[in-house]
Amino acid sequence: MTVRNLFLLPGDGIGPEAMAEVRKIIAYLNEAKGTGFVLDEGLVGGVAYDAHGSAVSEEDMAKALAADAVLFGAVGGPKWDAVPYEVRPEAGLLRLRKDLKLFANLRPAICYPALAAASSLKPELVEGLDILIVRELTGGVYFGEPKEIIDLGNGQKRGIDTQVYDTYEIERIAGVAFELARTRQNRVCSMEKRNVMKSGVLWNQVVTETHKAKYSDVQLEHMLADAGGMQLVRQPKQFDVIVTDNLFGDMLSDVAAMLTGSLGMLPSASLGAPDAKTGKRKALYEPVHGSAPDIAGKGIANPIAMIASFAMCLRYSFNLVTEADNLEKAIANVLDKGIRTGDIMAEGCKQVGTVEMGEAILAEFKAISA
Ligand code: NAD
Ligand code: IPM
Ligand code: MN
Repeated sequence: MTVRNLFLLPGDGIGPEAMAEVRKIIAYLNEAKGTGFVLDEGLVGGVAYDAHGSAVSEEDMAKALAADAVLFGAVGGPKWDAVPYEVRPEAGLLRLRKDLKLFANLRPAICYPALAAASSLKPELVEGLDILIVRELTGGVYFGEPKEIIDLGNGQKRGIDTQVYDTYEIERIAGVAFELARTRQNRVCSMEKRNVMKSGVLWNQVVTETHKAKYSDVQLEHMLADAGGMQLVRQPKQFDVIVTDNLFGDMLSDVAAMLTGSLGMLPSASLGAPDAKTGKRKALYEPVHGSAPDIAGKGIANPIAMIASFAMCLRYSFNLVTEADNLEKAIANVLDKGIRTGDIMAEGCKQVGTVEMGEAILAEFKAISA
């Protein structure tokens, strides 16, 4: 029987609450479809810091590296605001991304038909919205050196972060965006700030050259990232695939999340390069949202971003395409039935908690998959 090793890192805040709903879906798939998922679980973020003083242990890093895929919940929270920068909860996630070489973060912003009214934009602007943000995830200002606070000795300090991109990093993320565009509407919009940043000038050049050399069949457009943010809320449906750097991608994907109704809706896949021999990619699946300290522990978080991240895992890591499609369909059906968590609640709908939402999706998934 096929064995599929999944390493679960639920993390902090609403992370474990959302992950619990994914566990039920995995249990069903193993039981009914013989998917052979074998689960192991570790600590990341604040809970890892509390347990052993670092945001992820060497042992758990090794397990993440060895797994077929990692499912990640969320990290962070006010409890750890004062812990040293190097071991803060978010450092665990950054280390996972860096050490697993997960350079390509796919963040699909899809507005489910039933949720067009839940967006802060007019329904006609978001109805049928289907954007894919391809965010570079292991470079840029997140990782560039120097990165430090230095004491200038005159009562002043200087905080330094460095934005760095090399040609190969831009080439490979552009390649991912162009390849994915070919499976969609065949359009890519690259966003940078070449008007003020040298890395933006290089980004623009390399994307243009990569396009010319290998992907000239794909329609390419360039946009300054600030104008891109504006266009995302002005006329979001103009976009198909957006490719951008680590920091702009972080910000633009939170904006895109609200187009779909809530941050609790947006899944993501963080992928490495295919292995030269096996073709397999290292992968970590993580909702775009954080630990949501304001609602953690209340049982009201929306588990859809986490469940949809698992659907991406089924598709990208295990090629279980029917199961992925069915799980996404189950989410859409539950929303069509007017079942809603508080963040996407609308008039005439039924408000439920995390567990009820998870179980409604599972019931629908079972019905579709039977
Ligand atoms: P957040 O995403 O945790 O929350 C922002 C807002 O969205 C909150 O009002 C929250 O209640 C709401 N929200 C988020 N997810 C939701 C869900 N599934 N259902 C319903 N509502 C949801 O962002 P923040 O408050 O800026 O950050 C809180 C902590 O999370 C910080 O420590 C931050 O660093 C961390 N964070 C972690 C990740 C991650 O682990 N991938 C991502 C973003 C932020
Ligand atoms: C995200 C988060 C992370 C990021 C943090 C928690 C490190 O905001 O995944 O969007 O900035 O990349
Ligand atoms: Mn973010």
